[in-house]
Amino acid sequence: MNHNLLSPSILNADFGNLKNIVETLNQSESDWFHLDVMDGVFVPNLSFGLPVIEIVKKYSSKPLDVHLMIVNPEKHLGNFRNSGADILTVHYEACTHLNKVVQQIKNLGMKAGVALNPHTPVELLEDIISELDQVLIMTVNPGYGGQKFIETSFSKIERLVNLITRKQSDTLIEVDGGIDNTNIQKLKQMGVNAFVVGSYIFNSEDVVSTISDLKRKISC
Ligand code: DX5
Ligand code: ZN
Repeated sequence: MNHNLLSPSILNADFGNLKNIVETLNQSESDWFHLDVMDGVFVPNLSFGLPVIEIVKKYSSKPLDVHLMIVNPEKHLGNFRNSGADILTVHYEACTHLNKVVQQIKNLGMKAGVALNPHTPVELLEDIISELDQVLIMTVNPGYGGQKFIETSFSKIERLVNLITRKQSDTLIEVDGGIDNTNIQKLKQMGVNAFVVGSYIFNSEDVVSTISDLKRKISC
């Protein structure tokens, strides 16, 4: 299994050219498409929902890594599967019955991820980590692209690596927020497997070559 996964977030891309963006990412060395769904309740911002995911699915040649920043995600799991999600990540803070939600995601045939806000300790995953395909560590407060990486995330990732090792689980670690060419290599060395990168890619002159540079940094 490839553990150097790059998952570009299209949150800050130009939605007037969505089809072009998807086709450009298809041609790049990226591994997944990261899609940020926001409801204006769980996070202060609103983004997009099912129709946009369906369009990305229609043109994409890569798995869709869908990050739900919404309350009551359990109400919509089937709809996200039907719109094309391959990996579905819900927030720990949004699920009263997390174990049940994770089982439902898997029963629908998707990979299951759980995201943690910056203030949520990884130790809360002790009794569920073995069930999870991935843990998404938010390295900014969710809601917006282009924010600064929170430095305390490094120790959190270290503790998550220890938890996964102790439980002998094959759960992947994904990071999301403020990732760029200055921190991606250190995160890789610490044991991170999947990297969401938004504004650093889409603010660059050449999306394909920026992705290629980032992939090189995490592949060695
Ligand atoms: C933030 C989103 C991120 C965001 C990342 O709430 O979950 O996926 O798009 O964007 P950058 O890389 O710009 O921090
Ligand atoms: Zn995200």
